[in-house]
Amino acid sequence: MKGIVLAGGSGSRLYPLTKITNKHLLPIYDKPMIYYPIQTLVEAGIRDILLVAGGRNSGDFLRLLANGKEFGLNHLNYTYQEGEGGIADALALAEHFADGEKICVILGDNIIEGTIRDAVEAFRHQPRGAKIMLKEVSDAERFGVAELDGDRIVGIEEKPQKPKSRYAVTGFYLYDGTVFEKVRKLVPSGRGELEITDVNNAYIREGTMTFAHLEGWWTDAGTFDSLLRASNLVAQSAAREAKSEARDASSVA
Ligand code: DAU
Repeated sequence: MKGIVLAGGSGSRLYPLTKITNKHLLPIYDKPMIYYPIQTLVEAGIRDILLVAGGRNSGDFLRLLANGKEFGLNHLNYTYQEGEGGIADALALAEHFADGEKICVILGDNIIEGTIRDAVEAFRHQPRGAKIMLKEVSDAERFGVAELDGDRIVGIEEKPQKPKSRYAVTGFYLYDGTVFEKVRKLVPSGRGELEITDVNNAYIREGTMTFAHLEGWWTDAGTFDSLLRASNLVAQSAAREAKSEARDASSVA
């Protein structure tokens, strides 16, 4: 399966932090934001990766990441989104790279504690369609929100004022090769973007959407509060890991 990291958009909610750099190059604790989604893909066993960059500072991605040596990769693919036509508009640029294969798409500002490996493995065996990952949150109105009927997903609403559940649709999407046909049929939403939620609803209407629940903490990092929260969560996890490594080392000694 191929992986696609979407790192376009203007990052306007983080202005003036994003006035002179790309949002995904901002620090999350001790690393640039873009490291985390790439690491998530690599950890899930995906090594053929396309980065969709955008904005005025996209050349900095090349200088920072080069061919992905820090992630154990030999090569990274890059493309450029002109303007900020939305998540599905950025995804459309990956059609040539995907070449009809299944893909795992990650939003460049989504950071997790755990892994998406099990969902990726499950999707390898899913004959067709798509799979998304849900997370129960207390501020669902900030996200795409899933409406569930038992163990079936019946629809997704983008940033609803009155969410029908507490299950946010996280920024990890697994799609079969038909995703680009679905993107081509989209029309811009009220905010002038091609919405990933409309792509997901197309799969739901078709009856081929499955979902899994994401374990561990999850956050985006596109607002001042979530940027801070992301750094704190990563720092706390790093401290916990260091503590448990020190415990292991002392029990061996
Ligand atoms: O974080 C999960 C949420 O992400 C989902 O629950 C929502 O359904 C989904 O629409 C999205 O919501 P946001 O409004 O938070 O997305 P945002 O505009 O912040 O974009 C998230 C990432 O997508 C961004 O870090 C880079 C990529 N992107 C976004 C746009 C608008 C692009 O590559 N190009 C774009 O034009």
